Amino acid sequence: MPNESHSKVVLVTGASSGIGEATALRLAAEGHHVVIGARREDRLSAIATQIRDKGGSVDTRVLDVTDRHDVAAFADGAVREHGRIDVIVNNAGVMPLSRLDSLLVDEWNRMIDVNIRGVLHGIAAALPHFQRQGSGHFVTVASIGAHEVVPTSAVYSGTKFAAWAITEGLRQELDPAIRVTTVSPGVVESELADSITEPGAKEMMRTYRANALPADAIADAISYAIGQPAGVDVNELIVRPAGQR
Ligand SMILES: NC(=O)c1ccc[n+]([C@@H]2O[C@H](COP(=O)([O-])OP(=O)(O)OC[C@H]3O[C@@H](n4cnc5c(N)ncnc54)[C@H](OP(=O)(O)O)[C@@H]3O)[C@@H](O)[C@H]2O)c1
Repeated sequence: MPNESHSKVVLVTGASSGIGEATALRLAAEGHHVVIGARREDRLSAIATQIRDKGGSVDTRVLDVTDRHDVAAFADGAVREHGRIDVIVNNAGVMPLSRLDSLLVDEWNRMIDVNIRGVLHGIAAALPHFQRQGSGHFVTVASIGAHEVVPTSAVYSGTKFAAWAITEGLRQELDPAIRVTTVSPGVVESELADSITEPGAKEMMRTYRANALPADAIADAISYAIGQPAGVDVNELIVRPAGQR
């Protein structure tokens, strides 16, 4: 566990399940103060209770990442409460996979709103604070879908390619005192595939997702990236189950 001087204020979006939940639990156990956001208040409260029962430090905030004002209030509230933000993990995401000819346009738009706009809203919310502080760390949870496209993943992969590109652009533009990491998970146990409505894609995912990492494996990668000394910027990590091709 880090001593107080290494304890960071870490914001995590999409922290009510899966990778975000595991990251919040891991970072809180390491002595960081976590501020967890998502839409499901009951889940956030249960996770916060778990963290506090183990002696950890946490705030919860109900937010929808598609609403820029919600995300701005998430960051501003943390700064008001704790005086700074050290890390924002832009993790919230949805994956209703489908073939393009199914024309599930509302689901395409949902992915664009959450997976791209959500990341941008996180950047817009934290960047002014990081610039004022002269330090900070953006972590984007992209996907192996940021590196490859398969049938049914066109729009999801498109959003994750975009998240990758935006994060890489951020890295190039920013003062080096602000660090930037993209973590791209392969298959991980979570609720992510529950949003798939197209029967063919649902069936395909049942096989594809049979070999999955625990979400804690991605929490490990995020913990590694943010735990490096200030001059070390871990820009990209791809973490897959060993058997995933
Ligand atoms: N699991 C995998 O195999 C895998 C692989 C590659 C990448 N990823 C990426 O990992 C990230 C986390 O996903 P997961 O696997 O942990 O899935 P998950 O268990 O479904 O978690 C997704 C999280 O995003 C939140 N979320 C969704 N829409 C939101 C919105 N509009 N506003 C705020 N929060 C929202 C959900 O919370 P609420 O519903 O409570 O809002 C939930 O906490 C995603 O970006 C996903 O694309 C996952």
